[in-house]
Amino acid sequence: MSFFAGIPEAAPIEVFHMNNLYLQDTSANKVNLTIGAYRTEEGKPWVLPVVHNAEVALANDESLNHEYLPVLGFDAFSKAATALVLGEDNPAIAEGRAFGIQCLSGTGSLRLGAEFLHSQCKMDVVYVSKPTWGNHKLVFKTAGFKEVRDYTYWDATNRRVDIEGLIKDLEAAPERAVVILHGCAHNPTGMDPTQEQWKQICEVVKAKKLFTFFDIAYQGFASGDADADAWAIRYFVSQGVEMVVAQSFAKNFGLYNERVGNLTIVVNDKSTIAGIKSQASLCVRANWSNPPAHGARIVHKVLTTPALRQEWFDCIKAMSSRIKEMRAALKGHLESLGTPGTWTHITQQIGMFSYTGLNPDQCDQLIQKHKVYLLRDGRINLCGLNTKNVEYVAKAIDDVVRG
Ligand code: LMR
Repeated sequence: MSFFAGIPEAAPIEVFHMNNLYLQDTSANKVNLTIGAYRTEEGKPWVLPVVHNAEVALANDESLNHEYLPVLGFDAFSKAATALVLGEDNPAIAEGRAFGIQCLSGTGSLRLGAEFLHSQCKMDVVYVSKPTWGNHKLVFKTAGFKEVRDYTYWDATNRRVDIEGLIKDLEAAPERAVVILHGCAHNPTGMDPTQEQWKQICEVVKAKKLFTFFDIAYQGFASGDADADAWAIRYFVSQGVEMVVAQSFAKNFGLYNERVGNLTIVVNDKSTIAGIKSQASLCVRANWSNPPAHGARIVHKVLTTPALRQEWFDCIKAMSSRIKEMRAALKGHLESLGTPGTWTHITQQIGMFSYTGLNPDQCDQLIQKHKVYLLRDGRINLCGLNTKNVEYVAKAIDDVVRG
């Protein structure tokens, strides 16, 4: 007899599974376009020089220790993170209507937000874009949401945001439904709404009394400019929309395993904040009790030291520029090979990912025959490309597209 008898084996988590398959592959020509992590031209992870410098300074700071942080985290970090996403001069900050809670990267921020909305605001229905990041549904289901519904997002034929379908679905959503919106660099499609489309989305969210939950994991990656990438969120705030915003610093600081995140909360009535903070404290206490300090100290130091902040902006530019170069190179090679289909979407899409339009069979072929690893929905991480392998990848795509 075992207490553990009969536990069924769950399907593997695709993004980590595909990454592991890549790591286990011994082929010399293998290419990793799976997990959303930045890689240099040499195909290596990048410790941002500004992060390294901040770490050295922190290691030499004898005033620091390893005492517990408060339950809601390192407040100066959360203030800096909130200002980064809303803008330093956002009236919601000046009016004391916006604050942050330090969480465990983007996922922890989503989870805290979801649990809080479910337990305190009695919200049960959440809408995610179709398609969306692989973890959104799991987080909200596990946090107690009864229904996770899709809203139309991707128009596969025209490779654009299906704004008509999106608006129609949100118009049909029940009052108080939570809507997850990707702040920028939509994962997996790499295609964001235009500013006009964001305005339409904001209108319907307000008219139908839906609750806005932004997820911003790639601030700086869409355009190379952290302010420009927060446009949609700032616009919604300017329209008086109450919201929560899950922020991740995994990608834009390269702090993947430090789990640095922030949940920004914007309210219309600041007298609600004491209740929110006290109940959120209980949610955090029941989950991780209090967050780790190291990564949050790095982000805080960089964001609040003008010279380091500038250096960080330069790092973001360097990463996003390299990605753009790889987009152009991949598209260029496919076009000169005459690969059937159109490839302009590769350079129209933004952020780390391209939704290539390759079907699951073609993806399987890419993996098996050419050792080019990607997700089976056709998502590729452009960071896995470099000047040495991009032509190889284009030829591999050409081969599987021609069948
Ligand atoms: C991705 O989408 O590849 C990343 O956000 C990694 C993850 O946790 O899924």
